[in-house]
Amino acid sequence: MSSGARPRVFISRRIPEEGRALLAATCDVNSWESDEPPSHSEYLQAVAGVDGILCLLTDTINGELLDAAGPGLKVVSTLSVGYDHIDVKECARRNVKIGYTPGILTAATAELTVALLLATSRRLKEGIRAVENGEWGSWKPMWLCGPGLEGATVGIVGFGRIGVTVGRCLKPFGVASFLYSGRSEKPVEAKELGAMFVSFDELLAKSDFVVACCALTDKTRNLFNASAFKKMKNSAVFVNTSRGGIVNQNDLITALQSGQIGAAGLDVTTPEPLPTDSPLLKLDNCVVLPHIASATHKTRAAMAVLAANNLLAGLRGDKLPHEIQI
Ligand code: DGY
Repeated sequence: MSSGARPRVFISRRIPEEGRALLAATCDVNSWESDEPPSHSEYLQAVAGVDGILCLLTDTINGELLDAAGPGLKVVSTLSVGYDHIDVKECARRNVKIGYTPGILTAATAELTVALLLATSRRLKEGIRAVENGEWGSWKPMWLCGPGLEGATVGIVGFGRIGVTVGRCLKPFGVASFLYSGRSEKPVEAKELGAMFVSFDELLAKSDFVVACCALTDKTRNLFNASAFKKMKNSAVFVNTSRGGIVNQNDLITALQSGQIGAAGLDVTTPEPLPTDSPLLKLDNCVVLPHIASATHKTRAAMAVLAANNLLAGLRGDKLPHEIQI
């Protein structure tokens, strides 16, 4: 960017106008005006010579892409709290800052986690289908029963902002005890919920509901595998609104088919979109949503504004409002 020239930025998808307009006020914006992603080669072409990239969680930001952008690239800003799609070491090597959007999507994500937990445990998918298919006969005492939250033990894996907020939302349902596991104890948040810090194995063994709220890292990849499912109660309901990569999906399918665990509610899968012939979709005890945890109008608009502000700060050479510390 020559001094005085407007910085050039690439926005890799259609995003809420609030964020786009903020960038357009001071930058030359090339926006991929579609809900579908550019192809690999279109992406590489679009970033050539830009100063900043506003990307999505489905865009792979690696050495090849950073090379295609060239030495002028100052900042990559993702419209997501998760940043497992960005090669942070490659960014650091090139002095490219990375922005992300924590905090503002906590409430929406926790809300959807609770919705998914209830939809799964209370068998809403089967109930809705039965009504629509004319299978709703007379009222039956034993029909479509599932586990309730009252008196239950809820285990939260990853007791960060979202995990804690899920706990807060679930408490009024009469949950008997909260367990949590993760990298470290969180005494303040734990006290508020009366939650106990336990090992991952203890959490799996004791929980009626296992809720995954941890980030995808090298340590959490495939954390929920055959060995983990074997440690859970046969009645356990497993809910994942984090990333599909924390689950070994074939092991989950086996666990659901064999009755090793009771049910699963997933907002994230591997791959995304989940192919329509996935065995997960044939299972009555599995509810799958299309990665919509943060999808409220307000949250997505706030994410777009924060992602734009991160980008603008990086272009100015300032500290980003929310920067990944490498
Ligand atoms: C994120 O931000 O990482 C969520 O998965 C989508 O909002």
